[in-house]
Amino acid sequence: MLDLKCPDLLRSGAYLNGSWVEASQAFDVYNPATGQKIASVSDLCVEDVRIAINAAHRAQPMWAAKTGKERAILLRRWHDLMVEHADDLAQILTAEMGKPLTEAWGEILYGASFIEWFAEEAKRIYGDVIPGHQADKRIVVIRQPVGVVGSITPWNFPNAMIARKVAPALAVGCTFVARPSELTPLSALAMAELAHRAGIPAGVFNVVPSTAAAEVGREFCENEKIAKITFTGSTRVGKILMQQCAFQIKKVSLELGGNAPFIVFDDADVDAAVEGALIAKFRNAGQTCVCANRIYAQAGIHDEFVRKLSDRVGEFTVGDGFQDVTSIGPLINKAAFRKVEAHVSDAVAKGATVEAGGKPHPLGGQFFEPTVITGMTVDMLASREETFGPVAPVFKFKSDDEAVSLANDSEFGLAAYFYTRDLNRAWRMAERLQAGMVGINTGLISTEVAPFGGIKQSGLGREGSKYGTDDYTELKYLCFGGIS
Ligand code: SIN
Repeated sequence: MLDLKCPDLLRSGAYLNGSWVEASQAFDVYNPATGQKIASVSDLCVEDVRIAINAAHRAQPMWAAKTGKERAILLRRWHDLMVEHADDLAQILTAEMGKPLTEAWGEILYGASFIEWFAEEAKRIYGDVIPGHQADKRIVVIRQPVGVVGSITPWNFPNAMIARKVAPALAVGCTFVARPSELTPLSALAMAELAHRAGIPAGVFNVVPSTAAAEVGREFCENEKIAKITFTGSTRVGKILMQQCAFQIKKVSLELGGNAPFIVFDDADVDAAVEGALIAKFRNAGQTCVCANRIYAQAGIHDEFVRKLSDRVGEFTVGDGFQDVTSIGPLINKAAFRKVEAHVSDAVAKGATVEAGGKPHPLGGQFFEPTVITGMTVDMLASREETFGPVAPVFKFKSDDEAVSLANDSEFGLAAYFYTRDLNRAWRMAERLQAGMVGINTGLISTEVAPFGGIKQSGLGREGSKYGTDDYTELKYLCFGGIS
């Protein structure tokens, strides 16, 4: 079914301590567009996962002892191999996740960009020199790797979510055990194959596919050899992991749910706002944490914005990600499909109007029509919860204060977007919106050079950028005394 130039990238074993290991049990991975089985992958139990943790723990001093430049060279080689094999990696990703092939290809380059970025940063894990507080004292601050990192990542970006965690971890001298989503383990295993070819030493990067999500999560939190957990996923699971880590005061980085507002003011360039909304809402069929979940259009442009948005949404082609014409793939599974259906029917039952789409797609399966709904109110499910699907709910508002109050009325604070041509309004809004990331006149904010992360219940820590290594290092202060 897959037409890979390098078939060895499709792995079914676990990658433990530099070797491929087949477990006694396996689970099947399916293509969400067709329902066809793609592969059977080793299903590790907690004891197997401990082998990986032990290997990472043994390898960590050796890896940390390398110079930044040595680690940088290996990371750079890994990046180059990912780019060289981008076509194959994209095929594997589309097959297991469903996003259109061009988007999958974009994700591979996006993932690789984190490895490139942190390969460069590996040489710049700087400390500090602080003027001493007494004449005979000298103060120096160094940054050291936290140790072994346990990572838990979701299915929506099966490559990039791992890349942007493992790259800073390895850059600073941590070792890593990755538990990818059981829905999309193949991209992670392909990354491991390329890490192996790049010469990343045994034990430094391990991939532990497993359907025992809760047990593996608990093991990561409770195993004393793991120094830090990094997680991308739901706020519900993030809270459980944080609680489990509390006992050992274990470090956690959490990239959790969002409920991003997307605000279009009367003075906005409406055409640009429509294009921004298409990207912010419909990228990955609406299955991103930074997706615009609530669109607020000011009264003066509301009707024009809705008309133009609905026209453009009608141009999307829904289908199998392997077909050239496809711009919107399937939802990942039946539960995701049912949630989207429930959000639309709840809104309609409470008085909303469907302007485009609104139903399961005639293709059947997990395909849903790209949808625009108007007349949204705050009591509707789609205004409170992440829809995680191709549904654009549009609310009407009158004033800046109303927009801020609606936008901030959420326990989440990951991303926010707005469109305006007024510079004063841009600054005021950017400062007032409660979000870790704000897109101003753009619907696409993700890049390796900027800090990705949220406030409120959207998480802790930042990924990417010069700040991205902070969560993987400890500061140590050295006080030199008796200097005459
Ligand atoms: C996410 O959905 O968590 C990641 C989206 C991105 O990096 O753009």
